[in-house]
Amino acid sequence: TTATRPSGPADNRGARARAAIAAKTLRTDRWWFPPLVTFVGLAAWVIYATVRVFMHKWYFVEDYHYLTPFYSPCLTDRCVEGAAEFGTPLPSFWLIPEAAFTLPFLLLFRLTCYYYRKAYYRAFWLSPPACAVPDAHGKYTGETRFPLIFQNIHRYAFYAAVIISLINTWDAIRAFQSPSGFGFGLGNIILVGNVVMLWLYTVSCHSCRHITGGRLKHFSKHPLRYRFWTFVSKLNTRHMELAWITLGTLALTDFYVMAVSAGWFSDLRFIG
Ligand code: FES
Repeated sequence: TTATRPSGPADNRGARARAAIAAKTLRTDRWWFPPLVTFVGLAAWVIYATVRVFMHKWYFVEDYHYLTPFYSPCLTDRCVEGAAEFGTPLPSFWLIPEAAFTLPFLLLFRLTCYYYRKAYYRAFWLSPPACAVPDAHGKYTGETRFPLIFQNIHRYAFYAAVIISLINTWDAIRAFQSPSGFGFGLGNIILVGNVVMLWLYTVSCHSCRHITGGRLKHFSKHPLRYRFWTFVSKLNTRHMELAWITLGTLALTDFYVMAVSAGWFSDLRFIG
């Protein structure tokens, strides 16, 4: 027998037509809940980060050398002494963030991330909002044309993210400091915890997985790369969790540095 295709409006990629179902969706569960949570979570984070980046204050605790990741590396001539580890080549115009060299790359890295793409395509563009729920838009061209074809630059943004993670690692090391020399406080635990999570998120990236094990014909001939690939693959299954965890640790680290710097509370010190 010959299978007949269900009739319905042809989608514009010439793939299979959608079944002729009158209802918008046959799903009866709360399919709208995950995209709603994603929308609220991502919107709240973006608003918080934007406000903080343009605040231009409370980003550095001089005594303990705590620098928030949102201002690292601090490059404008507004940067307080000690925070500017790499010089101050940028003017202090309010529209220029202290970390103007790194923030655009971080934004690019996250915006083009395979997980975040899924998250905001569903929660913000409703394209589609969930499995088996129709797209809110009449036309669908995927990521094959301008502007979404630029999502492909994710693999290059990955290299920038590695460099930025190295800078954040340096910041976390520098923070083991007190006015009397070596120091260790709750802020160090938060800064180090954030950096560890940032590395796990970065290394679990799909591009990293491809770099370690992609384009190989025989894993047996590349045992070292196979090992790395196996490790990255395991982490990769947690990429979504790590994407959210790092949003949390970044906001927590920034808030802690802001609170200590503003004098809302003092750092809990164990040494120094
Ligand atoms: Fe998410 Fe690369 S896929 S960071």
